[in-house]
Amino acid sequence: MSAAGNNRDGSRVIRPGGTIGVLGGGQLGRMLALSGRAMGYRFVTLDPTPDAPCGQVADRQIVASYDDAKAAQSLAEQSDVITYEFENVDADVTELLMRQSYVPQGSKLLYTTQHRLREKRAIEAAGVQVAPYAEIASAEQLREAVVQFGTPCVLKTATGGYDGKGQWVIRSLDEVEEAYDTLSRAKTELVLEQFIRFEKELSVIAARSPRGEVKAFPAAENIHINNILHLSIVPARTSESIQQEAERLAMRIAEALDVIGLIAVEMFLTRDGQLFVNELAPRPHNSGHYTMEACQTSQFEQHVRAICNLPLGSTKLLTPVVMVNVLGQHVEPLLDWIADPESERQPGVTAKVHLYGKQEAKHNRKMGHVNVLADAPEAALQWIEASNIWKTNQ
Ligand SMILES: Nc1ncnc2c1ncn2[C@@H]1O[C@H](COP(=O)(O)OP(=O)(O)O)[C@@H](O)[C@H]1O
Ligand SMILES: [Mg+2]
Repeated sequence: MSAAGNNRDGSRVIRPGGTIGVLGGGQLGRMLALSGRAMGYRFVTLDPTPDAPCGQVADRQIVASYDDAKAAQSLAEQSDVITYEFENVDADVTELLMRQSYVPQGSKLLYTTQHRLREKRAIEAAGVQVAPYAEIASAEQLREAVVQFGTPCVLKTATGGYDGKGQWVIRSLDEVEEAYDTLSRAKTELVLEQFIRFEKELSVIAARSPRGEVKAFPAAENIHINNILHLSIVPARTSESIQQEAERLAMRIAEALDVIGLIAVEMFLTRDGQLFVNELAPRPHNSGHYTMEACQTSQFEQHVRAICNLPLGSTKLLTPVVMVNVLGQHVEPLLDWIADPESERQPGVTAKVHLYGKQEAKHNRKMGHVNVLADAPEAALQWIEASNIWKTNQ
């Protein structure tokens, strides 16, 4: 199609006017489409739920399940380039899309990041350290590994986990049988990890384009509640040299894994200044939402630029920021706050509200986020505290 052309080095470029197909119609696809449409791209998304968050802002939504070959074919026909907003894309669907359309991110990175063991090996091969781990195939093996690592340690399913699901923190040898029985029901390999007594969790999102250009966003300090991301604080409250080291590690991983598009790298920082990579996500990431107002380029624009092979944008941080997630239980207090001129407002603090257009505000469901811009992260944290919005049900 006319939107596709070639760069001087022969790599393919998708110019604005072209159509980006997004597998998955959730909030990540929505923010990708909002950003890409501003640049003049068209969007078509595939998602089983009608009026999905991305469907609401895309040109079109194909309503079908992710493994529907006809629907995937239709997505391929309508798109100049295809991306995805979740990593558990079926291998057959990826193959079909790659045959019928252009999927610059390829299938290899998905294959690697869909499986914790493959992912850890790839990170190690890039020369980056992960928490000590062992593959577990039986309860006896688990017992031996627990003895070796000591408690606590964490048993995880190799595939399909998110927001702490598919995990068991083993606190004593008595739990070995139950932990093994419970997690082995998922019918996937298991991996045991040594528990890292981290001082902070950090993440860095890096982007790489087919031209080979690589850029990292500033490191975020992440705070989880019930294994769900609650806050991303930027700049991270740690030394500049650690922030830079985290950003270097993410770029090294992006290069070693031949990433096209975004890669989110979650890390543990220990008291003695060591960084261990926890996991990767080959897509926009919740801990990168702060970039939407706080950086010269958002993670979503950067992803569009990378998959379309435009030059990457500057990742410079414009202002300190704290991103706070809005879960189902926070929606009502947030809506009261936003409409009430009397509600907590703090000089020098600007709260940018993002809501994803989801119908049902279920408990702990990600409904939106707020980027709180301030002169210092502490002022943003104070605002979050004073607003009382995040007091509910935590
Ligand atoms: N080996 C570990 N040591 C210490 N904490 C861990 C370890 N693995 C996971 N956690 C904690 O659990 C959270 C979720 O684990 P993660 O592997 O990132 O799975 P998910 O796919 O659910 O995000 C992490 O952000 C961290 O707080
Ligand atoms: Mg995680």
